[in-house]
Amino acid sequence: MTTPDTATPSTPGSPPGDLGASGLAQLVARRTPGRSLEAPFYTSPDVFDLDVAAVFARHWVFVATEPEIPEPGDYVTVDIGPYSVIVLRDDEEQVRAFHNVCRHRGTRLLPEARGSVGNLVCGYHQWTYATDGRLLHAGQQSPDFDAGCWSLKQVHVRSVDGLVLVCLATDPPSDIDDVAARLRPYLAPHRLARTKVAAREDLVEHANWKLVMENNRECYHCEAGHPELTCTFFPTWGYAEDAIPRRLLPAHERYLGATAELAETCRTRDIPTALIREVSGRSTAFRVDRGPLDGAGESYTRDGRAACERLLGDLDVRRLGRLSIHLQPNSWFHVVGDHAVTFTALPLAADRTLVRTTWLVHEDAVEGVDYDLATLTDVWHRTNAQDAGFVSRAQAGVSDPAYEPGPYSPSESDVDAFVTWYIERLAEELG
Ligand code: FES
Ligand SMILES: [Fe+2]
Repeated sequence: MTTPDTATPSTPGSPPGDLGASGLAQLVARRTPGRSLEAPFYTSPDVFDLDVAAVFARHWVFVATEPEIPEPGDYVTVDIGPYSVIVLRDDEEQVRAFHNVCRHRGTRLLPEARGSVGNLVCGYHQWTYATDGRLLHAGQQSPDFDAGCWSLKQVHVRSVDGLVLVCLATDPPSDIDDVAARLRPYLAPHRLARTKVAAREDLVEHANWKLVMENNRECYHCEAGHPELTCTFFPTWGYAEDAIPRRLLPAHERYLGATAELAETCRTRDIPTALIREVSGRSTAFRVDRGPLDGAGESYTRDGRAACERLLGDLDVRRLGRLSIHLQPNSWFHVVGDHAVTFTALPLAADRTLVRTTWLVHEDAVEGVDYDLATLTDVWHRTNAQDAGFVSRAQAGVSDPAYEPGPYSPSESDVDAFVTWYIERLAEELG
């Protein structure tokens, strides 16, 4: 039996003010594996700033999908903490990313969340940039003005089979090449670059970004908390074979049968299913697997039947289960035969996080003919709302002076791994 550790120093739940470098280092050094984090990790503005510097400004962050910017000049803007990044398709159809800061006097260049431009024109004094970032016009300037010195600042960007990641660091983690190569066989059959956006949902959740991620990395709460999701998502996710509760044994039996069938379906089509789990101990940490769905086994709907008649890519079978991908620090993906759903958690403040969900269907699918939007989005729309409730209550609890870190259950091993990865990043940053 696990009991509370009374030797653990009790931590005030309210923001501790200026923690300073030594306070932050002590907090990181005190982290106890197997326990939730101390309160300041979720409440302190100092920790939030450190998170931006050590995690979001140094690592590859999933921000958008290629189908969101199908044509030259199409762009989206994404806020990552205090940074704003433009992700844009240039005139040569390459995906580029820039800091959303005018090189004249710093004005936010593109204030909208998305749109389409010929050139990028600052609304203040009309400095004008090409879609590759070059400064084209800057009005009247002194004779020694060199426009070549004032291009937009580039941000590293790459697409992993249609999933667009950016890295704000000067030297991005190079292991992204390895991750991209290993994810490609899983993603390729779904051809995400040949999809279109069916729906998008932005939810501002009243919780620290790590509570959002911790909630995502376990399904301990699914059985009680997500009635629509568990119509198809097996609530045994995360349990060791010998630790499945009795009441879930019938679901586990169905899982075993569906797993065997899925393995055969994928084997004959050369589609990988094996779990790769490298969720800590490396910069670009990730997890991928393909598992079965309950019910009809085709899609995330109440009965498990496909929500879109037109399947993704050139797939010839609906019953393909779910491809699930976790990328540290802030994203997760569910790809089924008929659609894909991407999720990214973007930090806004110590106690606020934007969760952006995007539903993708085949580029030729027609709403009202091939799919009904409400049916397509029903399960994850409801699941997101339920999760927003859980994490806002978690934020309230960890902000209470009575909070102290509690023990993870064995089925929360991916939460522990996420926190381990996070602590590794902070320790690296603090030297
Ligand atoms: S700040 Fe952009 S043109 Fe002046
Ligand atoms: Fe959840």
